[in-house]
Amino acid sequence: MYLVTEHYPVYFEKESLSYFKEFLEKKCSKRQVFVLTDTNTRKHCWPKISGMFAGFEPPKVLTVPAGEPAKNFDTVQSVWKQLLEMEARRDALFINLGGGMISDLGGLAASLFKRGLPFIHIPTSLLGMLDASVGGKTGVDFLGHKNMVGLFSNPEAVFIWDGFLDTLPSEQRRSGMAEAFKHALIDNNGYWCYLKKSVHESLSYDRLIFKSLEIKKKIVDRDPKEGNERKKLNFGHTIAHAIESYALATPGHPPVLHGDAVAAGMIAESYISWKMGQLSKECLDEIREVLGGYFPRIAMQLEQVEPMLQFMGNDKKNTEKALNFTLLDCLGGAVVNQNVPPALVRESLNYYASL
Ligand SMILES: NC(=O)c1ccc[n+]([C@@H]2O[C@H](COP(=O)([O-])OP(=O)(O)OC[C@H]3O[C@@H](n4cnc5c(N)ncnc54)[C@H](O)[C@@H]3O)[C@@H](O)[C@H]2O)c1
Repeated sequence: MYLVTEHYPVYFEKESLSYFKEFLEKKCSKRQVFVLTDTNTRKHCWPKISGMFAGFEPPKVLTVPAGEPAKNFDTVQSVWKQLLEMEARRDALFINLGGGMISDLGGLAASLFKRGLPFIHIPTSLLGMLDASVGGKTGVDFLGHKNMVGLFSNPEAVFIWDGFLDTLPSEQRRSGMAEAFKHALIDNNGYWCYLKKSVHESLSYDRLIFKSLEIKKKIVDRDPKEGNERKKLNFGHTIAHAIESYALATPGHPPVLHGDAVAAGMIAESYISWKMGQLSKECLDEIREVLGGYFPRIAMQLEQVEPMLQFMGNDKKNTEKALNFTLLDCLGGAVVNQNVPPALVRESLNYYASL
């Protein structure tokens, strides 16, 4: 099964590996291949596909440290250095084998090296499979600000196989679920009902990944550069990025998983949606109950609120210092470009902290 986005195919399920093999045969018979991994995906994921390169020029595997703290320019430079040392040619194929951190960083590194190596994504985390591998956003964190430097750059193809999820730690699976809830909340009430019913029981990852990417693809195809509608996908993320930026910039702060921050952001931003008269109180209560029952609460102290507002002031989604949010108007619908006074954002953080 596959989806065709405006510019590249996304292959799913077991057959995606057959498509990957076909892709290698068609495009890589005499081509250099580089595979970017992090320490975990090198150990757990690379062995699952390395045999597929038999008969081709052996790929060179690059490995960077795992986790968000390594999503920065030092790591990008270490990738470029290794590519230079390995004499990478401009027509080499660059494969990102990892979660959203690897596809964001590897997509950026490949796009800038020698003015652009073609690349593909093979996502290995749930978050990567149902969100980050599609949409063409690449980037790294800079001076403690999430995703501050990056560019839109599309892969040649995306190959999604949920067999990688066997080794994904359970908290990382949970983190990936946040983006699925987001897709449902901004676009599809039926999907929201399915998720809230199934999340504590047995979930079909195939169904989940396909449904999420169908929603993301529809929105991204209509607005690839985030002029307007694509901002719907930022729901929950203005506050999530402030939570993550605060954690990254504060020495000794325990790491915060992206999905957990997004879940917190969605609760706080639903509160803002209610206070701005867009969303009913019943919907806010349902969102708080479902997300609050599934994701851990992120501890937030009063003294964190002002620095987090500062991070939002620097959020690249804001223009002319207004705090620009995507809000919900129902369970399955979002409105973009809502100007929210800082006092209400502060109130929403206090609301979240008081839960
Ligand atoms: N570009 C986009 O559209 C987009 C969308 C959403 C999120 N993101 C970005 O994605 C990142 C979060 O993605 P993530 O949660 O995948 O993070 P991640 O890539 O850091 O992966 C999470 C952890 O799981 C490990 N891992 C991944 N696959 C594994 C597997 N199969 N087995 C064992 N361990 C495995 C990784 O090594 C890492 O330790 C953030 O940086 C976020 O900003 C980008």
